[in-house]
Amino acid sequence: ISDMLVDSFGRLHTYLRISLTERCNLRCQYCMPAQGVELTPSPQLLSQNEIVRLANLFVSSGVNKIRLTGGEPTIRKDIEDICLQLSNLKGLKTLAMTTNGITLARKLPKLKECGLSSVNISLDTLVPAKFEFMTRRKGYDRVMESINAAVDLGYNPVKVNCVVMRGFNDDEICNFVELTRDKPINIRFIEFMPFDGNVWNVKKLVPYSEMLDKVVQQFRGLNRLQDHPTDTAKNFRIEGHQGTVSFITSMTEHFCSGCNRLRLLADGNFKVCLFGPSEVSLRDPLRCGVDDNELREIIGAAVKRKKASHAGMFDIAKTPNRPMIHIGG
Ligand code: GTP
Ligand code: 5AD
Ligand code: SF4
Repeated sequence: ISDMLVDSFGRLHTYLRISLTERCNLRCQYCMPAQGVELTPSPQLLSQNEIVRLANLFVSSGVNKIRLTGGEPTIRKDIEDICLQLSNLKGLKTLAMTTNGITLARKLPKLKECGLSSVNISLDTLVPAKFEFMTRRKGYDRVMESINAAVDLGYNPVKVNCVVMRGFNDDEICNFVELTRDKPINIRFIEFMPFDGNVWNVKKLVPYSEMLDKVVQQFRGLNRLQDHPTDTAKNFRIEGHQGTVSFITSMTEHFCSGCNRLRLLADGNFKVCLFGPSEVSLRDPLRCGVDDNELREIIGAAVKRKKASHAGMFDIAKTPNRPMIHIGG
């Protein structure tokens, strides 16, 4: 293991998030503007070979977990091949995916065979009409089907990501928690974060403390679980429930000190923090024919420039970034 992945605060980055596409089959309001976003022309997107070459470089330098994101990663036609090639990288322990679950039920058995070891599925409401409002598309039943398919295929836990927005779904928190009673599901309530084009507003943010209060008032026997230092989530279990409940508190209690995450975007840009505009292209040097050592230097230098933490929610909201659909979370 080289020091390529250690930043100037001593954080070791072992988790690479790869965005496979900027396209999506939903149009979630918190992720993209109604009119959509500009798409990078396809010749400028990383090919399967380029993704595998870069992933191999990261894994040989110490990354042990890769998460595939998007846009919607299952939209990519070569998704099975990509999973197969990545899961075979020596040293990789986890190949995960974050997906909206629209087409997952159908694709998951094959993806599992190709080495996909965990899935996080986004679902923000249990009311079909509200689903259609938030995602600007239909599909609630299909997402539910995918969550059940993932449970049936033995994924444990199946993580369900729920972005909580005031006036939209903050009245559904306890209904989501109910889902953990009989299923090995980890419901994760996420504080709404600002990105380009998502009309973030502090009034729409429901702070962790308030979400937790709602759960405490409704359920007995809520216990905090031991967190892993690099976890994005604060985890809880309700006595007697099979599943668990978590909170991702990026805004009111950030977890940057334990950050182990790096990002490779679909256009080949490398991003060391979810927030902040700092990006460097790995695609361009790759296409100029540089060798692995030169790539390692570019990556290492970017990692060393990583800040101790994000700038705080109000400054983040003012700093230019990309729309979430380009970053993949
Ligand atoms: P696990 O690997 O299962 O723990 O999932 P994860 O939380 O790393 O990834 P996921 O794609 O499920 O993201 C859940 C939420 O956490 C999303 O809202 C992400 O934007 C957010 N998130 C993921 N990574 C980071 C990060 O590095 N910083 C911050 N602030 N939020 C993050
Ligand atoms: N704030 C918080 N979480 C978000 N996600 C997408 N946009 C936002 C936002 N503005 C979540 C999605 C998905 C994960 C990758 O990030 O719901 O589960
Ligand atoms: Fe890491 Fe940046 Fe997320 Fe903080 S905001 S946890 S430094 S990626």
